[in-house]
Amino acid sequence: MSQRVHLPQPALLPHEFALLEGKRQMKRWPLVLLGVLLVGVSGYGVPLFFANETDHSQISGVMFQPDNPRVVSRGRKIYRAECAACHGTKLEGQPDWRRRMKNGRLPAPPHDATGHTWHHPEQILFDITKYGPAFLIKDSSYQSDMPAYKDVLNDEDIVAVLSFIKSQWPERIKARHGSLNEAAGQQE
Ligand code: HEC
Repeated sequence: MSQRVHLPQPALLPHEFALLEGKRQMKRWPLVLLGVLLVGVSGYGVPLFFANETDHSQISGVMFQPDNPRVVSRGRKIYRAECAACHGTKLEGQPDWRRRMKNGRLPAPPHDATGHTWHHPEQILFDITKYGPAFLIKDSSYQSDMPAYKDVLNDEDIVAVLSFIKSQWPERIKARHGSLNEAAGQQE
């Protein structure tokens, strides 16, 4: 053990202290104003600065509800209105979906048991739907026909539509998706 004695720091010399005291009396109002201003600025600025971060943390631990009839029926409506045009009314996807089109983009994959939607944990599916594939792979130049739904659907809508999709999978796939989610959860 070291014998060193810890002095309170920083130590002010007496004249510095007196100076500071005097200034404190005189400058109280400007200081208060400055404080109000700083709180105001940071109160406004911090959420803006961390907007992405906050947004993202709100959705961690997503839970789909494929067994909740109310959520699933809401999701079915959203699916028909927003997703079926590309992913198919029966979740079958676009023909030849594994091959890139002439423009280099991928066709819409099926969301049924034949596709790879169920290979991804819930959080990933949520993120793709909310922010689009480019966000997920962290490559803003990635071109995809899959829209980002963050300005179209709220978080509950996204969970509902993905719950509907999951409700359409056979039990065996649902069970495998369940264990996949657990594995993904453990990695975090
Ligand atoms: C305009 C066409 C289009 C619409 C509308 C659309 N998607 Fe997609 N979606 C795609 C394409 C294309 C891909 C393949 C993305 C890629 O990698 O480029 C995709 C991929 C996905 C994936 C990833 C699947 C996987 O196995 O990797 C999910 C999840 C998804 N879409 C969900 C949705 C949901 C939910 C909706 C409706 C709210 C929707 N999509 C609407 C075109 C569309």
